[in-house]
Amino acid sequence: MDIPQAAEQQQKATIAPPLWLLAELTYRCPLHCVFCYNPVDYASNLNELSTDQWISVMQQAREMGAAQLGFSGGEPLLRDDLEVLVAEARQLGFYTNLITSGVGLKHERLARLRDAGLDHIQLSFQDSTREMNDFLSHTKTFDLKSRVAAMIKEFEYPMVLNVVLHRYNLDHIERIIEMADQMGVEYLELANTQYYGWGLINRDQLLPDRAQLQRAEAAVARYREKIGNRMRILFVVPDYFEKRPKACMNGWGSVFLAVSADGSALPCHAAKTIPGLEFPQVTEHTLHDIWYHSDAFNTFRGNQWMQEPCRSCPEKEQDFGGCRCQALALTGNAANADPVCDKSPYHHVITDMIGRKPAPAIQEKPLVFRNDANSRQLAADTMA
Ligand code: FES
Repeated sequence: MDIPQAAEQQQKATIAPPLWLLAELTYRCPLHCVFCYNPVDYASNLNELSTDQWISVMQQAREMGAAQLGFSGGEPLLRDDLEVLVAEARQLGFYTNLITSGVGLKHERLARLRDAGLDHIQLSFQDSTREMNDFLSHTKTFDLKSRVAAMIKEFEYPMVLNVVLHRYNLDHIERIIEMADQMGVEYLELANTQYYGWGLINRDQLLPDRAQLQRAEAAVARYREKIGNRMRILFVVPDYFEKRPKACMNGWGSVFLAVSADGSALPCHAAKTIPGLEFPQVTEHTLHDIWYHSDAFNTFRGNQWMQEPCRSCPEKEQDFGGCRCQALALTGNAANADPVCDKSPYHHVITDMIGRKPAPAIQEKPLVFRNDANSRQLAADTMA
């Protein structure tokens, strides 16, 4: 065996292959959610990979060992070739998941997607009330989503509902759970807002207070007892209220590989916010080279990059130092410990935020909705 071959084998032995491919097919979206995790400057580059380019990405990922494939966006239903991509993914042996707002999902289209082999659908709602759902998404979509939920049941898919939680809907949690139960939801994901992308821009207004969270957690516990196994409820606590960080992405470059609409390969959705890292294009490099050899995937892989207190922390193999993008957003350096951790010298940034005065009224500090005009303005502000 020659030396480059031996080095290649050693590298492969220490780096596990990706298991989960997230295909962010498009950043176009009919909704304008204030907590969207898409990049705030998405409108500066609305180029999208072609059908053939996506098929090549899927083939390469599958060859490397990826088994789960999420189609997301933006709104993936805006891609006319979604059925073709789903069929190819099925033929390759992926387990496929469509992550959708439901907007644009008609009966005939769902039939085509089912025939193409789609395994799983995750539908998002913004709230249990029409008013708040439509306000937060800046669209009139509540009734439409309700019809889509019924259609998903009709096609006998497991009903998976995702509701992002924050200050404006946490107090509706009981009604949200009841709505889900009436819809026949089997799996309800109540995910408190993660503060990336548009969520970070709107954080002051969206961040709940501790009492709200405690009431919501108690309500979830009551309903779990009452509903039993009929519906599984996952309640993801916002990490700002924790003392240990989340194991973001299960570690950088560990199992998760995202490809954005324009073809950038990313170790997480928000990675492009980290300055100094170049994210390779799948149109210019093989996925294999990107995963095993690019700086983008190797910089924060493993634990060699860690500084104190992470470097000597006995928990570093459990939380991997937390989230790199959050460390950057809150401390200015992606290599710092995630300040959610109470061992971080920057933990006060979080506790100050949690212990602040009541959130500003919307009239005082309006929410910034995700749309092309706001995106271009925010990109211009960053450049200025
Ligand atoms: Fe990028 Fe956590 S979102 S590492």
